[in-house]
Amino acid sequence: MPDITAKTATVAPHAGLRIPEHLGVIMDGNRRWAQVQGKPRSDGHREGIKALRRLVEYSIRYGVPYLTVFSFSSENWRREKSEIEFIFKLMRTFVDSDLGKLKDNNVRIRILGERKELDPGLQKIITRVEVETRENTGLNLNVAFNYGGRAEIVTTAGRIVQFVREGRIGPEEIDEELFSRMMLTGGMPDPDLLIRTGGESRISNFLIWQSAYAELVFLDEFWPDFDEPLFVRALEMFSRRQRRFGGDGGG
Ligand code: IPE
Ligand code: IPE
Ligand code: MG
Repeated sequence: MPDITAKTATVAPHAGLRIPEHLGVIMDGNRRWAQVQGKPRSDGHREGIKALRRLVEYSIRYGVPYLTVFSFSSENWRREKSEIEFIFKLMRTFVDSDLGKLKDNNVRIRILGERKELDPGLQKIITRVEVETRENTGLNLNVAFNYGGRAEIVTTAGRIVQFVREGRIGPEEIDEELFSRMMLTGGMPDPDLLIRTGGESRISNFLIWQSAYAELVFLDEFWPDFDEPLFVRALEMFSRRQRRFGGDGGG
C-alpha cells in the first residue's frame, strides 16, 4: 500500500490511489457536530455546506468523474419545519454564492429527486442550475435533494409502464439495462464507492438501485469535519478493496 499522508495529498493526489468512477456521499452528522460544539443545529448545517464545498474541490482535483451527494432525503420532511426551512434556505444561498464558481470550474450539476413537491421558487432555481451548467464537461455533480431510492424505483417503474402502454417499448424489452437507463442516473456509471460520515452504518434509502455493488465506507467523523485527509483515507480504503461482482476476483 502506498504511504499516503495528508501532507503529500495536499500537494498532489498519490499515484497509487484508485479513483472511483462515481462517488456517492451521505453527508451525515451535522446536528451531532453542532451538539458536541454546543452550537445550534443550524450551525451544523451551515458548516456542512462548507464541507460540501471542500468535497467538490477534492473531487475535481483528484479527478472523480461523477459525484452524488445526499443533501435532503424524502424522509427528512419528518423534521421540524424550522429546520427544513433552514436547510432549504442554505441551498438557495449556496446556489447564489457558488454557482458562478462551479460554472467556471466546468462542473455540470443535476438535481436528483422529486421536485414537484418543492415550492415553485426552488424548482426555478433547480432548473436554472441545470440549464446553466448543462454544457459543462468537467465534474458531474449530482445533488440528491428531496430524494428517496425506493420512490425513484417506483417512479421509474411507472414510466416504463407508460412507455409500454404507448407502444414505445415492448414488455420483453424490460431488463436491468433498460431500468438503469430510465433511472435519474441514466447514462452514468453506478457508484463504485459510497462514503457515509457520522458513524451510522446504513444507506438510508440513498441510490439503492445503483449501489448494488458499491464499496461502502463508513466514517465516524461528522460531516462538518470532512477534510482532505479523511477523503484520502476513504480512497485508500477503496483502493484496498477487492471487487468481485459475484465472480472469483478475476486475478
Ligand atoms: C445530515 O446531518 C444533514 C441532513 C440530513 C439534512 P443530520 O442533520 O442528519 O445530522 P445528525 O445525523 O442528526 O447529526
Ligand atoms: C441521510 O441522513 C440523509 C442525508 C444525509 C441527507 P439521515 O440523518 O436523514 O438518515 P437517518 O435518519 O440516520 O437514517
Ligand atoms: Mg443524520
